[in-house]
Amino acid sequence: MLKTDLAARLRPAFDDDRDAETFLLRLERYGADLEGSLRAVYGDATDTLMAELLEVLIHAHHTRAPDLKRLDEARLLRPDWLQVPEMIGYVAYTDRFAGTLRGVQERLDYLEGLGVKYLHLMPLLKPREGENDGGYAVQDYRAVRPDLGDMDDLSALAFKLRGRGISLVLDLVLNHVAREHEWAEKARAGDPVYRDYFHIYPDRTQPDAYERTLPEVFPDFAPGNFTWDTETSGWVWTTFNSYQWDLNWGNPAVFREFTDLILHLANRGVEVFRLDAIAFMWKRLGTASQNQPEVHHLTRALRAAIRIVAPAVAFKAEAIVAPADLIHYLGTRDHHGKVSDMAYQNSLMVQIWSSLASRDTRLFETALLAFPPKPTNTTWGMYVRCHDDIGWAISDEDAGRVSLSGPGHRHFLSDFYSGEHPGSFARGLVFQHNPATGDRRISGSAASLAGLEAALDAGHAEWTDHAVRRLLLAHAVTLGFGGVPLLYMGDELALLNDYTFAQDPAHAPDNRWVHRPKMDWALAEAVQDNPATPAARVNTGIRALIAARQRTPHLHASIESRAVPSPDSRVLLLRRDHPLGVMLCVYNFSEHEVAFPTYLLRDQLGEHAIDAVAGTHFTLQRATTRLAPFRALWLLQAEVLP
Ligand code: GLC
Repeated sequence: MLKTDLAARLRPAFDDDRDAETFLLRLERYGADLEGSLRAVYGDATDTLMAELLEVLIHAHHTRAPDLKRLDEARLLRPDWLQVPEMIGYVAYTDRFAGTLRGVQERLDYLEGLGVKYLHLMPLLKPREGENDGGYAVQDYRAVRPDLGDMDDLSALAFKLRGRGISLVLDLVLNHVAREHEWAEKARAGDPVYRDYFHIYPDRTQPDAYERTLPEVFPDFAPGNFTWDTETSGWVWTTFNSYQWDLNWGNPAVFREFTDLILHLANRGVEVFRLDAIAFMWKRLGTASQNQPEVHHLTRALRAAIRIVAPAVAFKAEAIVAPADLIHYLGTRDHHGKVSDMAYQNSLMVQIWSSLASRDTRLFETALLAFPPKPTNTTWGMYVRCHDDIGWAISDEDAGRVSLSGPGHRHFLSDFYSGEHPGSFARGLVFQHNPATGDRRISGSAASLAGLEAALDAGHAEWTDHAVRRLLLAHAVTLGFGGVPLLYMGDELALLNDYTFAQDPAHAPDNRWVHRPKMDWALAEAVQDNPATPAARVNTGIRALIAARQRTPHLHASIESRAVPSPDSRVLLLRRDHPLGVMLCVYNFSEHEVAFPTYLLRDQLGEHAIDAVAGTHFTLQRATTRLAPFRALWLLQAEVLP
């Protein structure tokens, strides 16, 4: 349709000319992306879908509150808002952190004091009753889990957060809904319109054909990818648990529903959507049905639609996939800058734990060197721990490059972090042992995996000191990499594993709850008075790193962190080339003091450097630089002595 025709047709839908102008300008800017990607997925069905979407968009635009519209304008002036070094994320379960959404409002001083600008509250939309995969089986996307509050509480919290410059982040489960969701209920009742929202097969022919190439996500809880549902009289595609029904994104109605849902939540004040399990959205026979090209077209179309109404909103992809696949979630080739703004840097998290276990950074260095650079307008979500288990995502190729065997090293890491390896400092639990592949994923809190639990049990002062330093090193790597650091609730206090999950029937079967403890507010208050305790040392150290990060422009996410070959296998060197000067991060992954040849630092930095954390001059004059056990250094090139 001609632009002028469209404008003339749409203008009467707005009461305000300026509003109409804004909408039309954005439609002009993003409309082609939207339509192009829809056409790539839905072909001829696109015209009808576009017409329906326009109505959805106009309605959402009308109902968007003035302060959110102001935020939209502000964000358009600051497109790098997620990339700036001030950005610090915090991830928490509402109930475990503060009881309810109103309770979170009482804790805003705490979050602000930590420097938080981004608050991800774990799944809080109304889940099915009983087992619900930690809230990832959503029954109603337009309601809040009743014990946490209601939608008005959510809007009120978002408003308060916004006032303090903190963005509210919510999960958006795109791949599946709960078996009890209205759409699934209708499908179960036999409504053909809603049966087409899912992948339902009358017999095993198709499921068996797909299964030949599908991996298993939860081999322990939910073997296979299909579940027989008697009421539906069919095999339903259920990648995760049997009660999580995969959606059929090949149906344009699903796209329309989600556009409406996202905008509804954005108008409630959600600023970032964590696109849960995004890799699985599109199914293709003969493949693993992950990372299919349609996933990227769908994300691009969703993003374009959302940008028209709510350009303040960003997308974070939760795609725990190999680096070569991951990079596409941030947009490559035609999708450059047009899909997710952020993605989890899973590999780096895995490499941190791998190097801590082996006291060797060669694999880390090699993996980073082979990592494709990300588009400069995107960012990584950096983390030490999250609510999920750790899967040893180390490729056989990367392992081979440093003369390790992939299966052997992964086996070692599972042994090490489950505490089975002789001399291991870690206390973790094996999650989802898959005998077919030999995979054993690991649950456990950062502090317990880093050795604090075992050290405290043994009453061993040196081990305790090492555990504290290990944790601070891990946090320095994530805070100093240039993405959004996502601090997982409790890690700022080195909370240990919480074994009480085993007494709760709803949690007992899923040992990921071992690392989802309740916030220890008494400890949070006590740290100031007891500065020598491990919790206080970790807390002070993390706060110092956050402060240093926030005043170091070199950590802007548009700059890449590149590995520099290190002559000492215990030490990792990462270099950032910022227009203000070079930043070199130096990390000693061992419990030994390392005498590091200073000329290698001078090669990168020149004659003078500043220690960004201490804010003082760092001498590069001695022949060797002594790196204390687990020392993390952020060095900035300096023209002259400060
Ligand atoms: C994501 C979540 C995980 C959940 C899964 C299914 O991977 O992080 O906790 O089990 O999606 O929704």
